[in-house]
Amino acid sequence: MHDSLLLFGATGDLAQRYLFPSLLHLLRDRLLPDEFRVIAIARSEHDDASFRDWLRERLGDDYDTSLVDELLRRIQYVPVDLGDADAMAASLSRFADRPAVSYLSTPPNLFASACRGLKAAGLLEAPSRLVLEKPIGHDLASAQEIDATLKSALDESRIFRIDHYLGKAPVQNLLALRLGNTLLEATWERRWIESVDIIVAETAGVDGREGYYADYGALRDMVQNHMLQLLALIAMEPPAAMDTDSIRDEKRKVLRALRPMTAADAAADSVRGRYGPGVVDGQAVQGFKHGGHEDVETFVGLRAWIDNWRWAGVPFRLVTGKRMPSRTTEVVVTFKPVTHWLFGPGERKRARANQLRVRLQPEETIELGLMGSLAASEWAANELQPMSLDLAMLPPKRRIAYERLMIDALKGDQTLFVRDDEVEAAWRWIDSVSAAWREAGTPVRDYPAGSWGPAEAQPFLPRTLTTHNGRK
Ligand code: BG6
Repeated sequence: MHDSLLLFGATGDLAQRYLFPSLLHLLRDRLLPDEFRVIAIARSEHDDASFRDWLRERLGDDYDTSLVDELLRRIQYVPVDLGDADAMAASLSRFADRPAVSYLSTPPNLFASACRGLKAAGLLEAPSRLVLEKPIGHDLASAQEIDATLKSALDESRIFRIDHYLGKAPVQNLLALRLGNTLLEATWERRWIESVDIIVAETAGVDGREGYYADYGALRDMVQNHMLQLLALIAMEPPAAMDTDSIRDEKRKVLRALRPMTAADAAADSVRGRYGPGVVDGQAVQGFKHGGHEDVETFVGLRAWIDNWRWAGVPFRLVTGKRMPSRTTEVVVTFKPVTHWLFGPGERKRARANQLRVRLQPEETIELGLMGSLAASEWAANELQPMSLDLAMLPPKRRIAYERLMIDALKGDQTLFVRDDEVEAAWRWIDSVSAAWREAGTPVRDYPAGSWGPAEAQPFLPRTLTTHNGRK
């Protein structure tokens, strides 16, 4: 296990909110190596002491003081301008004394120059590793350009592309559920499944990240990575083994089978929205400040088609939005109706398709919607009604997905990281969507914060979402 972490973007939002707290949790649980050290790197002119004070304040009072002290003792701070490869090499080469994991928690436009600086500093020599935050590029061409620079410095086996959704225990549970149960494994295909919904709804807005969002929008920020990774785990063929490359091979195949969107499909298969002022969690909030970037969505609904034997004709609806009425990440698999209906017309009216609903956030629950007869009367055997088997899972031990991912990067396990060809396949499809939008002039429709998106989004939302989760 490597014990030297160079964290670029150390004063950034992600580092403050998730990366340093993850390290604290790992330290608390004694999962980090004895000699573990963090070289915190950012542009700000701090020294070790002032950075430690700054970080202590950011971490707040939630943690044991001695634990925070221990983490801070292990941190050194180095101010570096990532745009200047020579300066970078000069300030960082002293840390090439041992194998390191360099983690670029920075915007993607800095990846190439940071990589050149790291290489010049000797920090990418084998067995050192490089971790990159998403998004990798802005489209396929820029992702390929970044990749070419990375590959000139180190090989794929030492590149760790983060998609933090893969570090979430409930996301991994999707694989366990579908591959560990005959019931699901046998019915996991077009003959039995009518549709699949993947929803990532957030109550949070874009606050503080308007500049980034204006360039990326929900399509690039959420769909290209998190949602397509969820889709890949749900739709991929069972891998030959649960090893890193067998799983990534299958994910790549399914991403490549996504049917490119055309301008002619855009109206039926997509909807874009942007939140305006409204009320979320009882609080009045402002609308998205697009700063003149009119063509940016904070909500997107897509109908994706996977052109392969398993999924031909099954729509995968992907919906994600900011400033929704409740925070919900869930997957809903709707099965086809029974082949032959034996019960009465009243029953038929009440009939609901079987549905597997796996909620991943904020709490993890699994619901299986069935039809049955609940009535106590001896005459009621034919009185069918919808019922549900509900399972509430215990909260995962590692609440922050980055905890798992940091450990895996230090250990060198790439299973939960995204391979180059998966990133490319995902961009290829995303590029088809943005080209279809451009060509078709797909409008960005306003919706009030605190609603389930624009009216046009209704056909993309499963009924269970709006009925169950409208409440707060
Ligand atoms: C990030 C996106 O990758 O994921 C954010 O950039 C989004 O816009 C976040 O809010 C959602 O992550 P989570 O773990 O809160 O569902």
